[in-house]
Amino acid sequence: MIKKALITGINGQDGSYLAELLISKGYEVWGVLKRNSVAENQTARIPNDIFKHLKLEYADMTDMSSLIKVLIKIQPDEIYNLAAQSHVRISFDQPIYTANATGMGTLNLLEAVRLTCPNSKIYQAGSSEMFGNNIDKDGYQRETTPMSPVSPYGCAKVFSHNICTNYRNSYGMFISNGILFNHESPRRGTNFVTNKVVKEAVKIKLGLSKNIKLGNLDASRDWGHAKDYVKCMWLILQQDKPDDFVCSTGISHTVKDLVAYVFNELDLDWTQYVLVDKKYMRPEELEFLKGDCLKAKTILGWKHDYTFETMLNEMITYWKKVYEK
Ligand code: GDD
Repeated sequence: MIKKALITGINGQDGSYLAELLISKGYEVWGVLKRNSVAENQTARIPNDIFKHLKLEYADMTDMSSLIKVLIKIQPDEIYNLAAQSHVRISFDQPIYTANATGMGTLNLLEAVRLTCPNSKIYQAGSSEMFGNNIDKDGYQRETTPMSPVSPYGCAKVFSHNICTNYRNSYGMFISNGILFNHESPRRGTNFVTNKVVKEAVKIKLGLSKNIKLGNLDASRDWGHAKDYVKCMWLILQQDKPDDFVCSTGISHTVKDLVAYVFNELDLDWTQYVLVDKKYMRPEELEFLKGDCLKAKTILGWKHDYTFETMLNEMITYWKKVYEK
C-alpha cells in the first residue's frame, strides 16, 4: 500500500526538502498551502520535478475547518506539521499572529486529527528556540533541558510541544516532537542570518552591493543542513513508539564566525563591509545554542552528512550562480 503523507508548510525550506525525500521513498505527498496574493510565491521553493508529483490543498493553521476538510479527504498515514510564522525577530512585531499560527495552529491540527483520523502519526516541528537561555552544565541542550523561551515564537513553540505531549498521553495518539536546532540551505529565506550573509557577501564580491547590515554578531548557533534534518523527521515517524528527539550537529559557531568564514571564502575582509544596525537586534536574545543529539543517533540511527563549512560552500555556490548570470 502506498503511504500518504501530509505536510503543512510544504512551501517552506523544510517542506520542500521533506517532499523530495518522501517522493523518493514512494509516498503519495500532499501539501497544505496558505493563500498568498502572489500565486507563484506559494510554490517557489519546490523544484519542478518534485512539484509535478505533489497534491496541494488550500488550508490555514488558524482555520480548523479548513484542516478538517483536508484531513477527511486525504486520511494521511503521516502528518508533518511544519507550518509556522517561523521568524524569531518578526515574532516580536507580530506576537499575536505568531501565537495563533505557530501555537494555536498546532492545537487546531491536533483536534482536527483527533476528530477525523486519530490513527495518523504526527510529527511536530519543535525548535531549539524553546530552550531560551537554559544550558545544561556540560554546555549542551538536550531533550531534558528545561524550556524558558525568550521570544513570542519560542513561547508559541513551547505551547505546541506541550500540547502535543498532552494529546499523546491523554488520547494515545502517535505524536512525536522534533526539537530541531537551526538548519539552513540555499532554500532558506534570505531574512535568516545564514542566507542573508551569503547572499549579500556574494553581491559585495561581484560589485553589486557595498556593505551588509547585521544585528548581534556574538550570538552562537548550532547550524546544520535542512536536507539532513528532514531525514530525522522521517525517521522519527518510523518508530514503533512516539517520542521526542533533538536534532543538531553538536557544534556551535558565533554569527561573527559565520560572517568571517563566508567573506574569507570570497577573499574579502569582513571587517570592511559589515555594519551593525540595531534594527536587527531582538528585544531579548537567545545567546547560545549547542545540541546533544545522542538520542537521535542511538535510537533513530540518524547522522548528519553536511558540516558547517560544506553547507555554507553550497550556499555560496548557489548565490554565485544566481548573480553571475
Ligand atoms: N535574521 C537575522 N538577521 N539574524 C541576525 C542578524 C540579521 O541581520 N544579525 C544577527 N543575527 C543573529 C540573531 O540575533 C540570532 O542570534 C542569529 O543571528 C540567528 O538568527 P536567525 O537566522 O534569524 O535564526 P534564529 O536562531 O533566530 O531562528 C531560527 O532557528 C530556530 C531554531 O533554533 C529559525 O529558523 C527558527 O524558526 C528556528 O526554530
